[in-house]
Amino acid sequence: MSHFTYRDGALFAEDIPLARIAGEVGTPFYCYSTAALTENYLAFADALADLNGLVCFALKANSNLAVIRTLARLGAGADVVSEGELRQALAAGIPAHKAVFSGVGKTRTEMEFALTAGIGQFNVESAPELDALSHVASGMGKTAIVALRVNPDVDAQTHHKIATGRSEDKFGIAYEDSAALYARGETLPGIDMAGLAVHIGSQLISLGPFRAAFQRVAGLVRELRSAGLGVRRLDLGGGLGIVYDSEEPPHPTDYAAMVRDEMADLDCELVFEPGRLIAGNAGVLVTRVIFVKHGASKRFVIVDAAMNDLLRPSLYDAHHGVEPVIEPAPGAALSRADVVGPICETGDVLAGSRDLPALEDGDLLVLRSAGAYGAVMASSYNTRPPAPEILVNGDQYDVIRARQSYDILLARDRMSDWLTVRASNRRSRSSSTRQQIALTRRSAPAPSVGSSPLTSAFILPRPGINRLPTR
Ligand code: LLP
Repeated sequence: MSHFTYRDGALFAEDIPLARIAGEVGTPFYCYSTAALTENYLAFADALADLNGLVCFALKANSNLAVIRTLARLGAGADVVSEGELRQALAAGIPAHKAVFSGVGKTRTEMEFALTAGIGQFNVESAPELDALSHVASGMGKTAIVALRVNPDVDAQTHHKIATGRSEDKFGIAYEDSAALYARGETLPGIDMAGLAVHIGSQLISLGPFRAAFQRVAGLVRELRSAGLGVRRLDLGGGLGIVYDSEEPPHPTDYAAMVRDEMADLDCELVFEPGRLIAGNAGVLVTRVIFVKHGASKRFVIVDAAMNDLLRPSLYDAHHGVEPVIEPAPGAALSRADVVGPICETGDVLAGSRDLPALEDGDLLVLRSAGAYGAVMASSYNTRPPAPEILVNGDQYDVIRARQSYDILLARDRMSDWLTVRASNRRSRSSSTRQQIALTRRSAPAPSVGSSPLTSAFILPRPGINRLPTR
């Protein structure tokens, strides 16, 4: 059930009209529903409840601390891919032993941090990583619990940029090399080989590729066991798709039945790493129309959200449903439009060729299914403050990440010493450029905008360049 529905012609998030939040917080903003996060998490966790499994939410999908804590309270662990994400998981209340650390390029510093925290599992993706982890862990007098991530060479049949299980992808250890590396891992100091991990991609809309990958992994478990090696844990990754448009992804209960088919007789603890399935449809991006422009061949609805807020359409040609916050009257005329952001890139299209009603400046729109890989992929490109995040819970809402102020955006940068007036004066006094600067100043007096050294450094003409005509 969606928790973003129209009531009396206005779109609500649970019991709160989105227009009210827009009025109080400004636009654009991300809005998440606690009820949707909870339902999505429980649908998955309950389907797998009999399987001796741990559900580790993939923080890369949405790492807002309030979202993570909402899931932590339901029992979720965390799948993290950086020290930053691990810090977020811990700060949100996920115990370290429920965190698994994935990713092809963990640094030694990150390994140290994770070992100190006491994380539950490292998903190791290469031989050099295994050696480095052994070195770091044994140096610290610790033992790293390891699952080797296998690349099963299975095509997930998803967008090519989010497929991870083909032999040409950078992820995992080549299937043929996995058994030998596993055996070597057993001999390394500071390493406890617990099992195998696999993740073949994201937004999978059929079970076939999962099944193929799991069969490959199950085959490897049998091979390892027959060689006398212990395998007690399998991490089956994430990847279950959601509805953005007209997809018909498998329900978690179908997925669970397939896992049972393929894995139950192996008698392993299971780990799952869903991200999108839990957060994707639990969030929307709310934006306001700035202008409607009728181009020579198209209607452009120019809104105040852009590719810096929601990158998915530009990066993957991803589809996000668009709807007006005020429900169009029944039978309202629809016509084609591109919903675009203000960023100076042709690719800044949030929703191309959509049938939308008449819209005008100030109207509010939502982009649906934006709770996963939305805010986390935002940037400040074009020096736009990324959109704030709101969490709704019944009839209350809270700002769980504030809009960044321009002061904060500007304060990120530092002026190099040699660009400040004092430094350039110091240097110029001892060099022959001194006279040149004096000349330049006479011919082009710097306007007296502010008195800070920084401001005057910006407006000081460079000697010999940009000199204004002296007449
Ligand atoms: N585990 C691993 C090792 C992963 O690499 C991923 C996603 C997941 C779990 C979670 O997958 P999910 O359940 O969310 O499908 N930015 C892209 C998606 C990138 C996914 C990367 N890995 C997008 O917006 O579609």
